[in-house]
Amino acid sequence: MKEELNILIQAQYPLIYLVTSEEERAEQSISTIAQLLKPQRRVFVWTVTHGIVEYGQPRNVTQHNTVSPEAAIEWIIRQREPGIFILKDLHPFIDAPATTRSLRDAIASFKGMQKNIILMSPVQQVPIELEKEVVVLDFTLPDMAELNKVLTHHLEQNRGRRLTTEAREKLLRAALGLTKDESEKVYRKAQVTTGRLTEDEVDIVLSEKKQLIRRNGILEYIEEDETIDAVGGLEELKKWLKQRSNAFTERAREYGLPQPKGMLILGVPGCGKSLIAKTTSRLWGLPILRLDMGRVYDGSMVGRSEANLRNALKTAESISPTILFIDELDKSFAGSAGSGDSDGGTSSRIFGSFLTWMQEKKSPVFVMATANRVERLPGEFLRKGRFDEIFFVDLPTPEERQDIFNIHLTKRREDIARFDLEQLAKMSDGFSGAEIEQAIVAAMYEAFAQDREFTQLDIIAALKATLPLSRTMQEQVTALRDWARQRARPAASSVAEYQRMEF
Ligand SMILES: Nc1ncnc2c1ncn2[C@@H]1O[C@H](COP(=O)(O)OP(=O)(O)OP(=O)(O)O)[C@@H](O)[C@H]1O
Ligand SMILES: [Mg+2]
Repeated sequence: MKEELNILIQAQYPLIYLVTSEEERAEQSISTIAQLLKPQRRVFVWTVTHGIVEYGQPRNVTQHNTVSPEAAIEWIIRQREPGIFILKDLHPFIDAPATTRSLRDAIASFKGMQKNIILMSPVQQVPIELEKEVVVLDFTLPDMAELNKVLTHHLEQNRGRRLTTEAREKLLRAALGLTKDESEKVYRKAQVTTGRLTEDEVDIVLSEKKQLIRRNGILEYIEEDETIDAVGGLEELKKWLKQRSNAFTERAREYGLPQPKGMLILGVPGCGKSLIAKTTSRLWGLPILRLDMGRVYDGSMVGRSEANLRNALKTAESISPTILFIDELDKSFAGSAGSGDSDGGTSSRIFGSFLTWMQEKKSPVFVMATANRVERLPGEFLRKGRFDEIFFVDLPTPEERQDIFNIHLTKRREDIARFDLEQLAKMSDGFSGAEIEQAIVAAMYEAFAQDREFTQLDIIAALKATLPLSRTMQEQVTALRDWARQRARPAASSVAEYQRMEF
């Protein structure tokens, strides 16, 4: 990122938009770049409170009469020497005709001069008039090397405690995804100060990080206790996932394997899509972050939704390797499929930025998306190459249902020999995994109310009392199946698939 900024500055890009909430760190990077340039450049910073002040100078050494955005830009145009001009938080003013115009004047006047304007702001807002002239750059969150500086500084201030390389790496990794200020705070809070490193300290750093990530409200750290063995059936899908459990290691890169990009799991409601996505985290030993698309949308300010999405993706990248879980993708991007101009095009813009990100991402963020209404998904998602694989999760076959009964009964009772799983599987034709679980729970309630242990018959009664979704929504399920048979890979084992055709 710093490299990219450096190139843009040297290539005399007149207008660069740096999206960040870390002003201090970004200014430092720019000043470092400026010092290394030949000839060195002076850096000036504009704020609406102080006008233009040279970087590193006290705030009162301000250039006369440069508080208003237009006056500041006028001043910048008048400068004869090379320089980098940072305008902080110009976004509330940028739509004003005079501001937009003076920025365009500035760009025109920079031709052949070593001058750049950098707009620095936590939200991206570019008026149409400037869209062609501006390059938008995301200021990435600190990497391991930068966090190492924070940690070293913190330790030096606290009686110079030494850490083993391993302990240090654990602490650094735990703070990935935080800003510089946040990581400082977290190290302070975890009292990474005296004695030997304890697991507790790493845990505190991690749990603080989870809270900070939760606070932004769009990403959520998921903790799942279940392992992939809690999922019945879906053998093909499980095999695919197991094969890739070391896909993000150095060894896989050396072997010449590409990094998996992501997968889409389509399927009938209640058949374990979300469950399998969540358990992949433990299978792969990677953290999983849920991206709540509903919260990305924010109509309070133009550009706000885009900024939200950017920030979330940036956080996910900085924690990588990681799994980014988008549950119910069809609901998230529903608006962008067809008509949807009701929100001024926000959802299609969001959709566009998400696709671009997926296309271009180099960082090991594995996107795991689930959906059950294919017709609502924009076609671009389903195009080959977007995801590594699209799996279709159908209603469970008799074998799979046995497996699911087994799992859910074993979860609740130690000895399940009294249950005839084969019969239960037979009686639950058309039931989803979730409905099977519900039937067991209903049977238990029934027996519990009568103060006795639940039996095979209770479960059968519960099954009989339920009308499964596959029957109430038969048309939808059939349509989905027909669609998926041709375009997606079945998640059940091929044997199970074969048996299904016989039924
Ligand atoms: N194949 C399965 N094996 C074991 N349990 C299952 C299976 N499928 C569903 N379940 C049970 O049903 C619950 C709900 O399933 P899950 O949320 O994963 O369904 P889903 O496919 O994501 O449905 P939806 O499309 O409605 O989001 C699970 O938490 C689990 O307890
Ligand atoms: Mg689900």
